Amino acid sequence: MAKARSRFVCQSCGQIFPKWQGQCTACQEWNTVAQEAEPGEARRVPMQTGGSLAIIQTLEEVTMERSARWPTGVDVFDELIGGGLVPGGITLIGGEPGVGKSTFMLQLVSRLGVKIKPLAYISGEESATQIKLRAERLRIGNGSDIILVSEQNIDSALNGLASYLPRLLVVDSIQTVYTQQMDATPGSVTQIRECAAILTKFGKDRDLPIFIIGHVTKDGAIAGPKILEHMVDTVLYFEGDVNSNFRILRVFKNRYGATGEVAVFQMTDKGLSPIINPSDLFISRKRTDAPGVVVVPIMQGSRCILSELQALVTQSFLTMPRRVASGVDSSRLSLVVAVLEKHAGLKFYNRDIFVNVAGGLKLSEPGGDLGLAMALSGSLNDRPVPTDMLLVGELTLAGEVRPVSQMARRINEGRRFGFSRFVVADGCELPDEKGVVRVATVRDALKAVFG
Ligand code: TYD
Ligand code: MG
Repeated sequence: MAKARSRFVCQSCGQIFPKWQGQCTACQEWNTVAQEAEPGEARRVPMQTGGSLAIIQTLEEVTMERSARWPTGVDVFDELIGGGLVPGGITLIGGEPGVGKSTFMLQLVSRLGVKIKPLAYISGEESATQIKLRAERLRIGNGSDIILVSEQNIDSALNGLASYLPRLLVVDSIQTVYTQQMDATPGSVTQIRECAAILTKFGKDRDLPIFIIGHVTKDGAIAGPKILEHMVDTVLYFEGDVNSNFRILRVFKNRYGATGEVAVFQMTDKGLSPIINPSDLFISRKRTDAPGVVVVPIMQGSRCILSELQALVTQSFLTMPRRVASGVDSSRLSLVVAVLEKHAGLKFYNRDIFVNVAGGLKLSEPGGDLGLAMALSGSLNDRPVPTDMLLVGELTLAGEVRPVSQMARRINEGRRFGFSRFVVADGCELPDEKGVVRVATVRDALKAVFG
């Protein structure tokens, strides 16, 4: 009997190799190449002659009815994805276990069920009873519009579902379903790719929006292939510390809208509830004038969120003083500390430094440099930053303060939250000068903030 042929496939990018190797030469990942059975001969479909013809039309002839959007009823989500679901659009929702993917999808489906029905939820992870329990907790009332399929075999799930004519499909999760057409374990790159292809075909043929839930690994990538991200129309990631209540849903890819946008949710005992004014959450109820505390405006896509940033600078008794940063890139922190030492004469070499951004937000753009620098100097010298002062600017290695993008939006958000003085870079353009203090260097900024 002929031995089943096998091949070696990178579980991250899908590259195929004739033999095993430790590092994938395509995506440079280590230990991702795994042995899989060669796909069966029967799958190789010979070139069709006289089969059905592809539809060919000019751009002008394309009718627009297919692109009508379906609002979901969860406004922050509709805004996030560019105005509602697109029939036939495939969305991947990634996130760490426990972040709230299944909860969010069940809530979204229940809201949609009011207008679009029936909806189908394929779960390879949980039993129908478990989903029912969650639905009760979430007080979902329209259970008769939601079809549950607790099944890992995607072929039988879809065959069973086809006659119910669902208008939307959720698959929870892509790592737990498999197709019998492939001789590989669920969660392997071959299964994930093939199941995604089957789902895409099912969705595009019937003009269904499909949501695919995917787990992410610790380093934040969707477990399994990156190619999954290329196969879908929209990629959303749930972020947030599982220990905190805030959840941020971020758009990484969107064929139908902008990327980088975020929606903020709070996990409550009745599921995820949208937060309309995220800045409310991330700056403390009572604004404190403790040294080392500042509020920084953080751009998340087109939206500006104000968040509290805290720095604590203490005397160090270690030969290597500690630099602990959460929510701030540690190399950014080192840069700001170096700029303060070199250009403002402050001494941090014998100090431990702790920096934290409230609510699990990440300060991933340079607009917060100036705020960080003032929080650090404030804590070092025990001087508070005035509570009506908002600091916006990037620091250069030469100790200058530079304007950043979306200045007007950041200042407007500050005004909305009661800030009246704005320390910004010299050259930046603003619609009005009310309360604006311009500085050229980090030294100027220290003078403007601490007098
Ligand atoms: P879940 O949606 O199962 O996460 P995922 O599918 O991403 O793995 O969410 C699990 C967490 O959410 C769990 O720790 C419990 C919490 N939770 C609430 O706090 N309130 C709720 O109403 C629900 C349903 C879950
Ligand atoms: Mg889940």
